[in-house]
Amino acid sequence: MSEQKKLYIKTYGCQMNVYDSERISDALAPEGYSVTTDENEADLVLLNTCHIREKAAEKIYSELGRMKQLKLKKPEMQFGVAGCVAQAEGQEIINRQPMVDLVVGSQAYHNLPEMMRDVAKGQKPVDIDFPAEDKFDHILRSKGKGKGKGKRKLPSAFLTVQEGCDKFCAFCVVPYTRGAEVSRPAQKIIDEAKHLVDQGVVEINLLGQNVNAYHGQGVDGEWSLARLIRELAKIDELKRIRFTTSHPNDMDDDLIAAHGDTEKLMPYLHLPVQAGSDRVLKAMNRKHTAEEYLKLIERIRAARKDIALSGDFIVGFPGETEADFQDTLTLCEEVRYGQAYSFKYSTRPGTPAAERDQVDEAEKADRLKRLQTLLTKHQYEFQLSMVGKTLPVLLEKPARDPGQFVGKSEYLHAVHMDATPEQVGTIVQAKVTRTERNSLGAEIVE
Ligand code: 5AD
Ligand code: SF4
Repeated sequence: MSEQKKLYIKTYGCQMNVYDSERISDALAPEGYSVTTDENEADLVLLNTCHIREKAAEKIYSELGRMKQLKLKKPEMQFGVAGCVAQAEGQEIINRQPMVDLVVGSQAYHNLPEMMRDVAKGQKPVDIDFPAEDKFDHILRSKGKGKGKGKRKLPSAFLTVQEGCDKFCAFCVVPYTRGAEVSRPAQKIIDEAKHLVDQGVVEINLLGQNVNAYHGQGVDGEWSLARLIRELAKIDELKRIRFTTSHPNDMDDDLIAAHGDTEKLMPYLHLPVQAGSDRVLKAMNRKHTAEEYLKLIERIRAARKDIALSGDFIVGFPGETEADFQDTLTLCEEVRYGQAYSFKYSTRPGTPAAERDQVDEAEKADRLKRLQTLLTKHQYEFQLSMVGKTLPVLLEKPARDPGQFVGKSEYLHAVHMDATPEQVGTIVQAKVTRTERNSLGAEIVE
């Protein structure tokens, strides 16, 4: 048994990164690392970075600058950078911040144990290669070795089914940092889902940068995401299935139908449109019009009337005029999202839109404020419409107040209520009594 050491991971960005951080701690567990939430007591600090936000790399350098204080207090502390910024910057990170001991790209987490051995020898390994082999294989194997059955997990888990993207939206760095779209073989996903369910997981969120483009090898040819979902739904103890994030053009008929006929598939869909103006959509290389998106939403709602929709928006994309922006507001009025994320456009070096004429910063900020006011209003109205209803809620964990627990509605609302620890991991019927800004309050009715 190796010596016990503490690992502190700071996670930035999307759900994919939250999931990857879990993978990183799994990969390092056999090396004697257990996770700590206190950076001061860490032996190894890893920043799992995200490239999607503005000045991502600069923020990581300034965070590393701040962390020098930790190193001063505890000189043997080691530092690593993982994720998309690592993938994009590589060796440059160590050149600029020599305190960093290793740089590991998003495709190489299974190499971490070996990299830590190199670090122990005084080397500074950088691994940002895209793999010739399936990284998921290593992870499953190391899981089998390191962990026994019966370990208590959160009742809801992420499961990556595909990575990368071939869409090349003009603003987005994912096709460059995560590479081409790759789908995992269906059987491996089913095995991993069963493994999670054995550990007490009842909800699985299928993850991928462009998840509905899934086309993994199945027993009888390629499987679509819908086929995969239908097979996963056959696992008895698995109660809820979700997936994220999708591109409108990959919503095929079967996936739409699955929202109507597969009970375990939750009535919630994150389907980013980014903008409401056809001119901007074209400039973004989204390859669909606003009208086509709205028609698609209509078909999805025909399959599942009460579905909650969520989206992503970018305001101030190069060339966006006030009239274009108004089209975004109009589209939002038509869709009425249950919840949505919105961002000011920011340049990503190496992407086509970075080279174009930029919209004024103050104008972007103003548009973002107006869009968020509208989106927040719709979100609040949707939450208000839940008050008085009794909803099935999957209880996930204790909340801040004693005796209070928090779970998720089928529509992905956070719902707070009084409950007992034994009820965690079960689906309770809860009557919604009030709405807060970003969550609901409820009482268990049975
Ligand atoms: N600027 C602003 N937002 C962006 N996103 C992706 N790239 C950029 C960018 N360059 C947003 C998109 C995407 C979400 C994950 O992040 O809305 O759907
Ligand atoms: Fe990026 Fe999503 Fe467009 Fe792919 S579909 S390029 S991940 S925004």
